[in-house]
Amino acid sequence: MITTRNLTKRFSNGVVALQDFSLHIDKGEFVFLVGPSGAGKSSFINLVIRKELPTSGLLKVGNMDVALLKKNEIPYFRRNIGVIFQDFKLLPNKTVYENISFALEVIEADTREIKIRVNYVLDLVGLTHKRNEFPSELSGGEQQRVSLARAIVNRPHLLLADEPTGNLDPETSWGIMELLKEINKRGTTVVMATHNKDIVDRLRRRVVAIENGRIIRDELKGGYSLED
Ligand SMILES: Nc1ncnc2c1ncn2[C@@H]1O[C@H](COP(=O)(O)OP(=O)(O)OP(=O)(O)O)[C@@H](O)[C@H]1O
Ligand SMILES: [Mg+2]
Repeated sequence: MITTRNLTKRFSNGVVALQDFSLHIDKGEFVFLVGPSGAGKSSFINLVIRKELPTSGLLKVGNMDVALLKKNEIPYFRRNIGVIFQDFKLLPNKTVYENISFALEVIEADTREIKIRVNYVLDLVGLTHKRNEFPSELSGGEQQRVSLARAIVNRPHLLLADEPTGNLDPETSWGIMELLKEINKRGTTVVMATHNKDIVDRLRRRVVAIENGRIIRDELKGGYSLED
C-alpha cells in the first residue's frame, strides 16, 4: 500500500523532517507511528497525501509514484485515502452533516447514496443527534469524531489518522480505536500517528518509531517504547 525508499523531506527553511526513510506497509495492515513531537509523523502523512513533495527518494502509494502525480491527478489519487488531521480541518460554515456529505459530493456520488452513507457514519461515531450543529458548537472530541466520519465515509483503501485521540477522554478514545479496528478488519489499511502510550501498548500492532526523521524501530507487535 505504501512503499518508501530513502525518502527525505527538507523544508525550505532547512529543517529535515524525514531522512532516508525506508518503509513498506502492506495492504490491510494497522500501523502505529510513534515518536516525540517534531519527529516527522505528520510530515510523513503530508507526503503520502501529496500535500508536500519529497525532496528525494521514492514514495509509492498503491502503484502510484506520488512525486510524479500531475496536479490534475491529485484529487483522483486522494479519493481512496481518508485523512483525520491533527487539527481536524472541519469547514466552519458547514454543519456536521454537510462536513461529511461534502466528501461525497466532491466525488459526485448520487444524492440517495450520500444520504445513506452519511447517516450510517453519523450513527457509527454516535453523532446523529448533532447532525445540524456547526463545528464551533461541538466539543473537541465531537469534532474529532466528525473528522473520523468524514475520513471513512467514502470507504477509503487507506486511512491516515494523525493523533485521532489527541483531544479525547480515555473512554471516547477507546471508542475511536474500536472504530479504527473495525474499519481495518473490513480491509482498510490504517496508519495512525499517536502519543497515546496506553493505546499502543494494549493493541499490540505494528509500531514504527521515528526520531529526528529516521525510523529507529519497526516491530510487528510492538509497544510505545522499546521496554514495553
Ligand atoms: N511546513 C513546514 N515548514 C518547515 N518545517 C516544518 C513544516 N512542517 C513541519 N516542519 C518541521 O518538521 C519537523 C517534523 O514535524 P512534524 O509535524 O512532522 O512532527 P510530528 O512528529 O508530527 O510532531 P507532533 O507529534 O508534535 O505532531 C519539525 O521540526 C517541524 O518543525
Ligand atoms: Mg504531528
